[in-house]
Amino acid sequence: MNDDYFYLTTPIYYVNDRPHIGHAYTSVACDVLARFKRLSGCTVKFLTGTDEHGQKVEKSAKSVGMTPQALADANSQHFRDLTRLMNISNDDFIRTTEPRHVRSAQALWKKMEEGGYITLGSYSGWYSVRDEAYYQESELVNGKAPTGADVEWVEEPSYFFRLSAFQKKLLKFYAEHPDFVGPESRYNEVKSFVGGGLKDLSISRTTFSWGIPVPGNEKHVMYVWLDALANYLSALGYPDKTADYERFWPADLHMVGKDILRFHAVYWPAFLMAAGLPLPKRIFAHGWWTIEGEKMSKSLGNAIAPQALVDEFGLDQTRWFLMREVPFGNDGNFSRENMINRINSELANNIGNLVQRTLSMIQKNCEGKLPEYQYSVAENDLFSGIQPLVDLGQSRTQGYMHNFMDNQQIHLMLEEIIAAASRANAYIDAQAPWALKKTDIARMNTVLYALAEAIRKISIVLQCAIPDSAAKILDFLAVPMDKRSFAHLSPEFTLSSGTLLPPPQPVFPRFMEKAA
Ligand code: MSP
Repeated sequence: MNDDYFYLTTPIYYVNDRPHIGHAYTSVACDVLARFKRLSGCTVKFLTGTDEHGQKVEKSAKSVGMTPQALADANSQHFRDLTRLMNISNDDFIRTTEPRHVRSAQALWKKMEEGGYITLGSYSGWYSVRDEAYYQESELVNGKAPTGADVEWVEEPSYFFRLSAFQKKLLKFYAEHPDFVGPESRYNEVKSFVGGGLKDLSISRTTFSWGIPVPGNEKHVMYVWLDALANYLSALGYPDKTADYERFWPADLHMVGKDILRFHAVYWPAFLMAAGLPLPKRIFAHGWWTIEGEKMSKSLGNAIAPQALVDEFGLDQTRWFLMREVPFGNDGNFSRENMINRINSELANNIGNLVQRTLSMIQKNCEGKLPEYQYSVAENDLFSGIQPLVDLGQSRTQGYMHNFMDNQQIHLMLEEIIAAASRANAYIDAQAPWALKKTDIARMNTVLYALAEAIRKISIVLQCAIPDSAAKILDFLAVPMDKRSFAHLSPEFTLSSGTLLPPPQPVFPRFMEKAA
């Protein structure tokens, strides 16, 4: 295992729609993981992009009187804008209409064909354009897909992928790789689906043309899911053995929503096996957001645009809420009230208050300079209380916090940060430096220094979740830009007494509802 490189991907987003918070959620979660890995010292490749082919996009384009390409261009740009809006640190943005992708998807098809796993036949059965998925008659519920989407009857010549030949191989692979899919309950669903038997899969369409031509038979376009999944390889330059391919394949993590797990945990590994390629190391399926208790949908018109949240609450506040509100992997509900409560209790009252109290006391009582210190038992207790954060400086891969992130328990990692801030707040209350000011200046100095150092540690870790705000705090502590990674949590990088600090400003204002 090479711990130096880490490749992670978001799903590529369909361009029939505009970005909403469901999309922002997947991307922010990946961003937190990517930043965490970079702070740990890994070389990260973080890929996102747009899924532009298929009947769904063709149909949407028709309904608004645009060509599919024009619709794809416009909406792909909206998803690119989303990465900037949400401060997503992706290293690449792939579009499935790009020549680099078309070439790669066709190369993958040819490899699967050479393996003897693709045959020409004809398909007749149910298809859902919304889900871009085939359904068995037995799966339908009241004439609809199990997802509630409409289905239509399709009869056409089609290439088939011999998915049935992979049932045993997949089950063996799952048994040998207990961490391949998370959370575990979702992995069990995948295993029982495959255990129930696999039918061959139709992988081409002839009744519309918005897709990648099948190599050697241009009457067919590739099934959009085969096309789309190939993006994870095309961004590495596949089939060329590029330096990126050598470093980053197989992917360390494909992050997906629970609705698209089957495509990633069953079809994708089977396609890769057929092409003789290594399989990704892990796939994690996160839950879905509802809005004030209701499903988010176009027809209800209740989808929340990420821009609206950022405008009203702030970027880091939005990122924080999305990552903190729900244990990662579970479904969640967006409610305005919960958002305000979380911003105020965790960012404003807890972290913000800690930073503000400490830095303004240093400004006022220490001429704006980090004071001298002499630790006693109370300081040792404070630092041992935030040990999980400090430990991140010890190893690039091992330890409590790394385990959380390797299992995508983002909420547990963030909980440790909050717990550390709470401990520092309890310490400031117990030590009462405002009282020491009158009785014991040396102790006051020690307490303020210890608090500044605790805040430095907290902010270094916080950078993965709310990078702008964490950077602001580190600026207030005059921490040099090149001393902000997890390696700098080690004792030799502690703050230097005597350093002049810039005047602080509040980082997390309390959110107040405007009076009606
Ligand atoms: N194009 C496919 C993915 C191809 S990957 C090779 C697709 N696109 S999508 O735009 O419909 O969805 C992209 C991601 O957004 C999925 O992971 C999906 O789960 C996520 N979400 C869409 N709505 C969501 C919520 N309401 N809540 C949380 N995530 C949601 O599927």
